[in-house]
Amino acid sequence: MNVLITGGMGYIGSHTCVEMLEAGLTPIIIDNLCNARSEVLNRIEHLTQQRPVFLEGDVRDEAFLDSVFAQYDIDSVIHFAGLKAVGESVRKPLEYYDNNVNGSLVLTRCMRKAGVTSLVFSSSATVYGDPQSVPITEQDPTGATTNPYGTSKYMVERCLMDLVHAEPEWSITLLRYFNPVGAHPSGLMGEDPQGTPNNLMPFIAQVAVGRREKLSIFGDDYQTKDGTGVRDYIHVLDLADGHIAALQQVGAKPGLHIFNLGTGQGSSVLDMVNAFSQASGKSIAYELCPRRPGDIAKCWASTDKAQRELGWKAKRSVTEMTADTWRWQSNNPQGY
Ligand code: NAD
Ligand code: WQD
Repeated sequence: MNVLITGGMGYIGSHTCVEMLEAGLTPIIIDNLCNARSEVLNRIEHLTQQRPVFLEGDVRDEAFLDSVFAQYDIDSVIHFAGLKAVGESVRKPLEYYDNNVNGSLVLTRCMRKAGVTSLVFSSSATVYGDPQSVPITEQDPTGATTNPYGTSKYMVERCLMDLVHAEPEWSITLLRYFNPVGAHPSGLMGEDPQGTPNNLMPFIAQVAVGRREKLSIFGDDYQTKDGTGVRDYIHVLDLADGHIAALQQVGAKPGLHIFNLGTGQGSSVLDMVNAFSQASGKSIAYELCPRRPGDIAKCWASTDKAQRELGWKAKRSVTEMTADTWRWQSNNPQGY
């Protein structure tokens, strides 16, 4: 099966390509490299002994996409490409709507012209906003997003829902990721944020390796077990496997399919600091700071639907997430 992977050089896309190649699927990557390094391709080849096709280009470039669909016999598309930094999205809303929303519209238009109607979209738990209760199910309300990034994901979801309603031959799968972390256990691939990391795990990893002095913990007065925010951290390889399960179980089934991809377990910021400290043998310096605007107290997934309908369940523990992140970070202190 030939699967076009937009954003396949990025963090989640690259791990998904490795898992796909190992499962006998053929990824064809397009990426404009705005947040990725070409070295990723060498690492994928090293791990799988296969070098996927990589075409440098932008998902908003309709002529480029048309040429890709004309050249390759694509069965399905996984659409990872987009911008993902919450804070930056507040400062640059037009860039985020253009990249994430317009990019998705151009992609689906080109898919339609090429007669390709199977799409898996990278959505996010951010579409649930501040949840009324946990665990969050796929039926819970969406749309009360708190920043342009989250709104862009919600808008794309709505566009795709309307598309499948109007043209029922489409198979559209919305995968709502919780908090992806971890790295390939080889230590050859992982998350390589440019500049100061926005997310917790890469920040902790950079403190452990000596690139940053200390972690700021945003809030210790939430209604949680230790006062710090609770999230559903999921290993990036489990997430990658969730995409393969989605392609195989519902990718050829017309209609709209929505799944949470999480573990169903919540961990606090202090849980993650302690787990990382254990995994790395380093103490993680931190200071308690005020809450970060827009943050919620707790968020974790109900995983029942994915388990029931995709036969998929996250397998890897927080211990593996932190150990694999540390192996990647300590082997590649400056990233790729
Ligand atoms: P990433 O930045 O590592 O990967 C995205 C890739 O897309 C990058 O390689 C980038 O160069 C590429 N790209 C961006 N805009 C493009 C464009 N216009 N044309 C072509 N390529 C483009 O991010 P990631 O963490 O791998 O996230 C992948 C997807 O999952 C994103 O859509 C993101 O919003 C979504 N997501 C991520 C998280 C997370 O915490 N990492 C959580 C939920 C959802
Ligand atoms: C996790 C916890 C912070 C950094 C974001 C996006 C979401 C999704 C995943 C894409 C929170 C705390 C963090 C730090 C800290 N991305 N923290 N110090 O906010 O759950 O989700 O990434 O779709 O849309 O919003 O993830 O890793 O930023 O934060 O104390 O330096 O760690 O307050 O409790 P978040 P995160």
